[in-house]
Amino acid sequence: MLISPKEMFGKCYGQYAIAAINVFHMEQVLAVFSAASKAKSPVIIQTTPVARNYAGHGMLLAMITAASEKYPEVVYAIHLDHGFEEHIDDALSRGGYTSVMIDASHDDFQINIERTRAIVSKAHAKGVVVEAELGILSGVEDDMEVGAEHARFTQPDEAVTFVEATGCDSLAIAVGTSHGAYKFSGKQGIQFPILKEIQSRMPGFPLVLHGGSSVSQEEVLRVNAAGGQMKEGSRGVSDEEITEAIKYGICKINVATDLRVLWARVHREYFRDQPELFDSVPPGQIYMRELEAFCLEKFEKLGSAGRA
Ligand code: G3H
Ligand code: 13P
Ligand code: NA
Ligand code: ZN
Repeated sequence: MLISPKEMFGKCYGQYAIAAINVFHMEQVLAVFSAASKAKSPVIIQTTPVARNYAGHGMLLAMITAASEKYPEVVYAIHLDHGFEEHIDDALSRGGYTSVMIDASHDDFQINIERTRAIVSKAHAKGVVVEAELGILSGVEDDMEVGAEHARFTQPDEAVTFVEATGCDSLAIAVGTSHGAYKFSGKQGIQFPILKEIQSRMPGFPLVLHGGSSVSQEEVLRVNAAGGQMKEGSRGVSDEEITEAIKYGICKINVATDLRVLWARVHREYFRDQPELFDSVPPGQIYMRELEAFCLEKFEKLGSAGRA
């Protein structure tokens, strides 16, 4: 059943979080739905502009709809991740999304407010909710790279003003995570004093964590053992940090990188071990199985299993 994330956040706030999983192709759509069905977990399926450019709006929506027909019991939302006006206008006019993100986080505060407010009025007119972003994460975001020197934590004061001025339905905040496979090199991680301060200023308002991948070091080692050259020694967000963040209003955890690392590992190992093969179906089947297992574990950790 396709629903609004607003409905999900109303139920999960402070208790568990919803995984928001970036999909680009069929194997990911099927694996996520299959896992959500098995776990009885609500889930947010999200597509970036890169995904919409790669597969196309029609193909993505058709795949998601087909998966929901195969697994009719799955409670899900469809969200546009990191949209600009042009992507949001296109998504709203073609329909199918129950939620969009306007990412004007790289603009000045006032401009971010204005751009977000304009999207809120357009989206709400169509019954679509809006995630906005305040603060700047570093790392590779869709097709844009943000250097660590440009990263900026969300200011709690600004967050309150921003939410009141824009009418957005949820807020992505920058509290130490970054996009991509190389998040924390040392022991820095989620900045809980900032998160707690934001939450205490706007209790009950849904917060979103971007850069939510775990970046399993075992997976990175396996990618490299199969010929990859990922940098080692960096880590993602730990399970403990996620559990703690949920207590302070994080309702949505975005995960994209983990799916890519898993894809690289499965395909590298498959063709390393069977260099004579060239069929796309068997590795695709392995990837779906492994991704389903990853999602099942994620739903357990976020506490969303059994909540659909
Ligand atoms: O936040 C951005 C997305 O998670 C990145 O995904 O670069 O593959 O579109 P993408
Ligand atoms: P990761 O790079 O940690 O998977 O973050 C994904 C994300 O924030 C998508 O918007
Ligand atoms: Na951003
Ligand atoms: Zn993001």
